[in-house]
Amino acid sequence: MDLITLKDWSPYEILATVEEALVIKDHPERFRQAMVDQSLGMLFQKTSTRTRTSFEVGMTQMGGHAVYMDWQATNFALADVKDEAQVLSRYVDVIVARMKHHGDLLDLTSGSEVPVINGCCDRYHPCQALGDLMTMAEVRGSLEDVHIVYTGVLNNVANSLIVGCTKAGVRVTAVTPETNPSSQDDALLEAARETGLFAETLDLKSAVSDADFVYTDTWIDMEFFLEPSYQEEKERRIKAFEPYQINEALLESTDAYVMHCLPAHKGYEVSAGVMDTPQCIAVDQAENRMHAQKAVLLRLMDREG
Ligand code: CP
Repeated sequence: MDLITLKDWSPYEILATVEEALVIKDHPERFRQAMVDQSLGMLFQKTSTRTRTSFEVGMTQMGGHAVYMDWQATNFALADVKDEAQVLSRYVDVIVARMKHHGDLLDLTSGSEVPVINGCCDRYHPCQALGDLMTMAEVRGSLEDVHIVYTGVLNNVANSLIVGCTKAGVRVTAVTPETNPSSQDDALLEAARETGLFAETLDLKSAVSDADFVYTDTWIDMEFFLEPSYQEEKERRIKAFEPYQINEALLESTDAYVMHCLPAHKGYEVSAGVMDTPQCIAVDQAENRMHAQKAVLLRLMDREG
């Protein structure tokens, strides 16, 4: 079993992982031996603070070991991804890979002889969505009768949030005037619509009026933010997405908790002031990545606390 996208996971698998993550957070001592003698290979093509650290520390806390590999410092770039993945999988027991392109992640997965976890590609970020669901369950006491609004660019984070929420019984509204081209997944949106739990609108103020959570992510992919050739598109997006910012004026219409997968670009998708309010739970959300990923590791490797 792998975790490439939550599209491949059943509602039961998603909900059981969220439940397990909550138990792990409350009782970490029960899981201190859960990964003894197990190694996690961590292959990253892109930078990371949360995903890298939470997986690495999570393995250590469960008695296991993690090997971080910066793509540029390996021979993956010089060889066939599938071949290198097969070799890597003879050394480690599970792999987390952050790949720029979903297709390369699929190639890597096809070569691996051990479970592969998507640590965020251009199309999906399933570990983020599981941490997000855990955070919503923690704040509300359960995932029943929960409504979350996602505002901004329809991207990898939004895709995973939409599929995760609709499978977990959470109502999700997308206020997303544009889609990142490489994140386009029409089948995912169609499946979400069929659940009756997914709505789409461009009226952010109305959407948040009965929301429990309002969520956003960067309008500009991290890898392009400082890229000189992307500056024109960056300026266009800043103008186009300004009405979709989470700011103090929006929060006058709602008591919803503010979520952000981080890192945040304050003053763009979210105002600096909002990030500093108690209504913003982004740091708890980031912490929960680790607990949720521990639950993912246990599930994929069929291990218990
Ligand atoms: N949210 C998230 O995946 O953060 P990092 O890019 O820092 O891992």
